[in-house]
Amino acid sequence: MNETQALQQTFEHARTYFPSLGTSYKGRPVLFFDNSAGAQVSQFVIDRVTDYYIHRNAQKGTIFVRTAEMQQTIVDARQLAADLIGAADHTEIAFGQNATNFFHLFAHHLGRDLRVGDHIIITEADHHANVTPWLELAERDIHVHLWKVDAQGNLDFDEYEKLLALEPKIVAAGWASNATGTIHDMQRITHMAHAAGALVVADGVQAASHIAMDVKTAGVDFAAFSTYKIFGPHMGFGYVNRERLERLEGWRIQKELEKDAYFFEVGSQNHEGIEGFIGSMEYLAQLTKDAEENGLSLDETQLATARPSRRNIAGAMHFAHRYEQQLTDHFLAKLASIEGVVLYGKTAEQSEERLPVFSFNIEGIKTDTLGHALNDAGVEARTGNYLAINLMKRLAGPFDGSALRISLVHYNTLEEINQFFGILDEVLEHLKASAI
Ligand SMILES: Cc1ncc(COP(=O)(O)O)c(C=O)c1O
Repeated sequence: MNETQALQQTFEHARTYFPSLGTSYKGRPVLFFDNSAGAQVSQFVIDRVTDYYIHRNAQKGTIFVRTAEMQQTIVDARQLAADLIGAADHTEIAFGQNATNFFHLFAHHLGRDLRVGDHIIITEADHHANVTPWLELAERDIHVHLWKVDAQGNLDFDEYEKLLALEPKIVAAGWASNATGTIHDMQRITHMAHAAGALVVADGVQAASHIAMDVKTAGVDFAAFSTYKIFGPHMGFGYVNRERLERLEGWRIQKELEKDAYFFEVGSQNHEGIEGFIGSMEYLAQLTKDAEENGLSLDETQLATARPSRRNIAGAMHFAHRYEQQLTDHFLAKLASIEGVVLYGKTAEQSEERLPVFSFNIEGIKTDTLGHALNDAGVEARTGNYLAINLMKRLAGPFDGSALRISLVHYNTLEEINQFFGILDEVLEHLKASAI
């Protein structure tokens, strides 16, 4: 079996871990293509949540065994999140409601140190979750600058250089676009920001369900993630670089707590969700095992020498990204044959710089009309701006800033892509005929 086949075998088998995949609608198989909004969960997650309710359903702060076990589970879960993204350890991780909430917490918190006239950079490529919290600071006469993208939606580094000359205090930037799937060069963004004296708050939400993340190599100071996009329950977690933590002041409700990222976990947490998150990391470790049994190897990667739990968890994302490149190439090759297609973001020739997230329109067809027709044929894909509001306004202006988004992850298959294009042909033929 060659590498291409081994990847296909591994990830086609991965589907079998997901009880929610493989349903049908109006007699057709459902194509779940809305993964950038949120992924499905494996049986590992379902089992963990069930197990939590049976054995560890407890509140913080008692002497009961049940409580001690629950609290230990939360520490274990933080450690697994650290393994996933390459944080030093569990003390750099906090769980919370979702990524948006973390960006608000970071802005609230970092905003305390900002003075009138200070500068912040946000990007035109970002989801509004990492835009709005910073715009709110503008109400205090802090200057918030929009780092623009070029015509393809890429962050323009010449423009960045100019903005950094203002000596901003904070740069808020996304690791990958949820609209175009473009992967941003986070290491370059942080390197340049740090040289100018700015901290970087990264939106790791989209990248984390597709690539092996490494917050240390990337050098980000703060980051937020959505667990429900990483095959887990509806929650999020934040990362704070240890060195930054040492300098945080105030805001905690128990001032005597030691300085670690738990700092952001105020009040009661979603214990069952956190336990479910452990299931999602068990699933990833299982994928790495499956991949290795199929002859794939991590030997040539930096993960080979990482601590075992990081190796096993992030290893799955390394393999997933390679497999997803097959999905991307196949999808873009098929898309190229559709008449009047307008694709946003990286082209087929630049496929290594993107995720399998495809936003496009078809000339002469309203985006929503297309979305409804596809949905009626069992294709679960959304239309709109996916809250990448500025980016979609810029790229899809003639379509009112809206596009159809097909967002795939590693449990999608080449066969599903073939089915999709069969359906798209049918739908387009019908829509064009009814327009006459
Ligand atoms: C890039 C990106 N950032 C942030 C978010 C918001 O995440 P959450 O729902 O966890 O707040 C999303 C959700 O789609 C996203 O795609």
